[in-house]
Amino acid sequence: MKRREFLLGSGAAAGALGLGKFGLAAGSQELVIQPASFALREQVTTGMVSLTPDAPPPVLYGKQGEVMRLPVRNTLPDYTAMHWHGLRIPNDMDGVPYLTQMPMSEGEVFDYEFTPPDAGTYWYHPHCMTMEQMAHGLTGVMVIAEPEGPGFDSEQVVNLRDFRLDEDSVFLPSYTARGAARAGTFGNVQTANWLDAPTYDHTAGGLVRLRVVNTDTTRIYKLHLDGAEARIIAWDGHPVEFDIPMPNAEEPLLVGPGQRVDFAVTMPAGEGQTVDLMAKFPGQPHRAMAQLRATGSSAGRDLRELHPLSVNPVARPDLTSAELHEFAFGWTPEGNEPNNGFCGSLGYNFWSINRTPWPGDAAQGVGPLATLEMGKSYVLRLRNKSPNLHPIHLHGLAFVPLKSNLRALPPLMTDTMLLLKDEVVEIALVADNPGDWAFHCHVIEHQKTGLTGFIRVV
Ligand code: C2O
Ligand code: CU
Ligand code: CU
Repeated sequence: MKRREFLLGSGAAAGALGLGKFGLAAGSQELVIQPASFALREQVTTGMVSLTPDAPPPVLYGKQGEVMRLPVRNTLPDYTAMHWHGLRIPNDMDGVPYLTQMPMSEGEVFDYEFTPPDAGTYWYHPHCMTMEQMAHGLTGVMVIAEPEGPGFDSEQVVNLRDFRLDEDSVFLPSYTARGAARAGTFGNVQTANWLDAPTYDHTAGGLVRLRVVNTDTTRIYKLHLDGAEARIIAWDGHPVEFDIPMPNAEEPLLVGPGQRVDFAVTMPAGEGQTVDLMAKFPGQPHRAMAQLRATGSSAGRDLRELHPLSVNPVARPDLTSAELHEFAFGWTPEGNEPNNGFCGSLGYNFWSINRTPWPGDAAQGVGPLATLEMGKSYVLRLRNKSPNLHPIHLHGLAFVPLKSNLRALPPLMTDTMLLLKDEVVEIALVADNPGDWAFHCHVIEHQKTGLTGFIRVV
């Protein structure tokens, strides 16, 4: 079997069983960060970074409330640290260099161990040498299963991301200074699970949980589904407790870097019919990023047969007592040069939070942007003072968007808020996880050129 066929086949099987070569049950194996090669296009691209030599980083499967042991070994000459995006776990397992652990050098192993309190779709990526390692492939999906599933026939994980390659499929530089100072530097090869529009087989008329994750370093994906009876059941890991209108070609869903959306999909009844995950790129017609193809005779399932997802145990903020903190995201004052620790610097500082640019990963003596008291409720006002969009991400805590000056916000539970041009959004949270929590834009070029800080919970 060719690798490509193997991946196509096993991707669906891994989804159905929760395991397989494409997926790993946590607890068994060391995760080895290593060089990889893969045919992202016709030619094989070398110099990639993954957890296997010839495949994308596997989907990591865990269960809500059950301990996960994830020993990570670094075999690269560069430093690294692994972060588990969206998981509300203890601070010392959060994988942020200098803030929560020392960067891992070549040959070093760090034993990550935690118990995910929430079910849902999460992901993992390095937080040291972030730009280089993520741009070269090291972004994987984590699925934390509910103790009792809502009744799907199968699952499909789709990891969306771009790569920046030249005509010979050799990596181009991961960023440009021009991009970093604006919307970021976009890739030119769009992939789903590192493949060009893969097709995955699922039972005709069956119910599929489609987990879509944007792990790109830059791109805000504009998505919709074609050919499906479907519903959005979770956003950024957490169940949605109300109806989100299904996106369409005119009004696609904006999914920023770091964000996830779970669809409940009814497969078409006719064998060979497809459900297409569509994306819109500037100056191009809509195109399918991945397809679900109906196989066999129809299972005749109906979305109404699904049990609602159980709500994750996130504390609800008390708005009557909440204290307000302000954060402005914008340019940085002139003359700020980042330091260069072990975790890579882009060499510039273009961005800041509250006029203070993050001085680099090895930030010494830089205080928190805010100190929150354990157990109290807070409102954070997030102000975008730039024309560029910023997916603002907070580690270790989940929050509720309250209101925006530009649009109605659904009462989601999330860890990443996409700020539109000139948007001011208020979010609310309960500071119930102690530690220093990274707070940054998830456009990695913004993160690495100043748009980073941390919030302390004591
Ligand atoms: Cu997805 Cu600070 O990370
Ligand atoms: Cu994170
Ligand atoms: Cu940004």
